[in-house]
Amino acid sequence: MKFFIDTANLNQIKEAQDLGVLDGVTTNPSLMAKEGITGANNILKHYVDICEAVEGDVSAEVISVDFQGMVKEGEQLASLHPQIVVKIPMIKDGIKALKYFSDLNIKTNCTLIFSVGQALLAAKAGATFVSPFIGRLDDISTDGLSLISEIREIYDNYAFETEILAASIRHTMHIIDCAKIGADVMTGPLSAIMGLLKHPLTDSGLKKFLEDYKKGN
Ligand code: E4P
Repeated sequence: MKFFIDTANLNQIKEAQDLGVLDGVTTNPSLMAKEGITGANNILKHYVDICEAVEGDVSAEVISVDFQGMVKEGEQLASLHPQIVVKIPMIKDGIKALKYFSDLNIKTNCTLIFSVGQALLAAKAGATFVSPFIGRLDDISTDGLSLISEIREIYDNYAFETEILAASIRHTMHIIDCAKIGADVMTGPLSAIMGLLKHPLTDSGLKKFLEDYKKGN
């Protein structure tokens, strides 16, 4: 399972990268705004900074909603750095753009996926990744994890190469449940990733080992 971090915060990206388990980064316009990164030039520069801080895929989202606009923007984003993955919304023109970039072998991430039908269409259009937003489904009392299971089943039925990128991860259990289901990738906040290492018995066990070591020295 690949681990992506879902943030535009460079310190958090570097912390996850230093841990040695990071495979990539996802961003979106809201995450950029949260870090105070505004204006086209600053945003483009920030994508390059992120690419230079990590080794894997970095999703950069288009803000156009028409085919020509997405193509122009996506080409600009892809030319910024080889690690850029063009993130495209699940709308009609987005499907056309996914196919366009797929034919050019430019990696894409189809975002805002909330149904199996959308995931099937994105895979047909050749998306590299699809991003089902499980936390936002949970927020409206709909089981986000079931969506991941259903997409897994359909993709396996037809050996689609599109990777399931479980997004809108809110906590550590989401990561574990997505791993059980077989999501190819998860993108989540640093806190959810760090939560994987915590166990009180590890802490108390280590404390005792260190105390016992000191007794003998
Ligand atoms: C995915 O690529 C999105 O950036 C993200 O996971 C959205 O998550 P949110 O629902 O926490 O905003």
